[in-house]
Amino acid sequence: SNRTFTFHNGVNIPDIGFGTWQIPNEEAYKAVTTALESCYTHIDTALAYQNEENVGKAIQDSPISREKIFITSKLPAQIKGYDATVEAFDETISNLGVDYLDLYLIHAPWPWDDIGRDCTEGNIESWKAMEELYKEGKIRAIGVSNFAEKDIQALIDACEIVPMANQIPFYIGRDQNSLLQFCKQHNIVVEAYSPLATGQILDHSKIKEMATSYGVTPAQLCIRYCLERDTLPLPKSTNKERIIENSQLDFTISSEDVQKLATFEDVRAK
Ligand code: A2P
Repeated sequence: SNRTFTFHNGVNIPDIGFGTWQIPNEEAYKAVTTALESCYTHIDTALAYQNEENVGKAIQDSPISREKIFITSKLPAQIKGYDATVEAFDETISNLGVDYLDLYLIHAPWPWDDIGRDCTEGNIESWKAMEELYKEGKIRAIGVSNFAEKDIQALIDACEIVPMANQIPFYIGRDQNSLLQFCKQHNIVVEAYSPLATGQILDHSKIKEMATSYGVTPAQLCIRYCLERDTLPLPKSTNKERIIENSQLDFTISSEDVQKLATFEDVRAK
């Protein structure tokens, strides 16, 4: 699709992105090349994924020009502070072989080995560095990932620029209603990672049944659901047929069925 979401600074982002989490560097070249050949123009990576190098090579070797591709990367969750942020950003653009990023996110409010730790001061310092990189034109939009309302509010209170995006786990059964509402109030685009619950909801009999009624696959139903909830899906696959399948979303889910899907329980909450 050629549709976009628009950030509060007016920059457009293609409404479906190719996620590369858990795609090893050795497989990333082929997967991203396939995605770019299959009409994806939005690629999501992170320094922590350790695949930026081959994601970048695929982008460089693609016949599509740099300006027509939307690239997101992320500041590693454990890196907090002004100088460390600038350094990590430089490493990312050097890995990718580009001179600017379309979107740069703080990967998480806390390090992954210490989830929940209060890193407010560090996040504020990192955010100030990102604001500066944004003003210098090295990043077209800046945002956060895995941030709760209080984490975002802390940046809004202390800094100049309201985050433009928050990338969170979102799939049928994990609706995050209050966070979605908070983001909407502040004009923050919500990006949905793991829109297939990392593959775990595709065998759900009710999802299969509903997908059949629309003449689509369970994966397409799950990805389309994200759009129906105004979130930007980032599906991931290393398989060509599934990469293409996941981008074919030219149907809509009735509001009645969206309501039904919204009452599902979280398959991963165990
Ligand atoms: P594969 O790479 O073999 O296609 P998520 O995006 O929620 O993290 O889910 C990714 C997982 O779902 C991967 O294991 C991926 O496997 C699988 N997957 C992706 N697209 C599809 C699809 N269309 N049908 C079935 N499984 C899929």
